[in-house]
Amino acid sequence: MIQFPAVVTTVSPAATVAWGRELAASLPASAVVLLIGELGAGKTMLMKGLAAGWGVADEEDVASPTYTLIHEYRRGARTLLHLDLYRVATAQQFDTLGLDDVFAPPAPGEAKLVAIEWGERLAGRLPPPCLRVEIQALPRAAAPELALRDDEPRRIAAAWVG
Ligand SMILES: Nc1ncnc2c1ncn2[C@@H]1O[C@H](COP(=O)(O)OP(=O)(O)OP(=O)(O)O)[C@@H](O)[C@H]1O
Ligand SMILES: [Mg+2]
Repeated sequence: MIQFPAVVTTVSPAATVAWGRELAASLPASAVVLLIGELGAGKTMLMKGLAAGWGVADEEDVASPTYTLIHEYRRGARTLLHLDLYRVATAQQFDTLGLDDVFAPPAPGEAKLVAIEWGERLAGRLPPPCLRVEIQALPRAAAPELALRDDEPRRIAAAWVG
């Protein structure tokens, strides 16, 4: 179980996915997670771990819902809503997201996780509390144990806000 606030350094995409699984296991049955970080920081990678750990999808089946904005994964009584707000900019576009439904609590006995890439764009429209997860690329020198060429260190910081 992850204790919050938490800060970790992952040294590969797989390590970020694994931390996402652990994160899912550390959340209450109803939670909103904001994934914050530059293009290519690893938000979708973390989402793969969240979806697998939440028990609603295999990690290879998780990709950004770029054109639909929201992707719903459901298994049994467990739901994950994956939002990617990269292309959402205007107030009108935010209105089309149906945020009341997105943030509606789960039915009794069900579990619902809402995880939002570029979630900081919803500032002022978020229900408290949210788990803010920030992913930052570190210089390669920060992790001499790096193995593959695709591997880079990431600093991930998670804290409840609101
Ligand atoms: N430690 C690491 N953790 C996560 N990803 C890593 C790491 N090291 C290298 N990578 C690479 O960084 C990229 C992260 O891509 P990903 O799609 O998860 O980013 P993103 O934050 O979702 O970007 P976007 O803003 O475009 O949605 C992948 O190509 C992955 O292989
Ligand atoms: Mg992404």
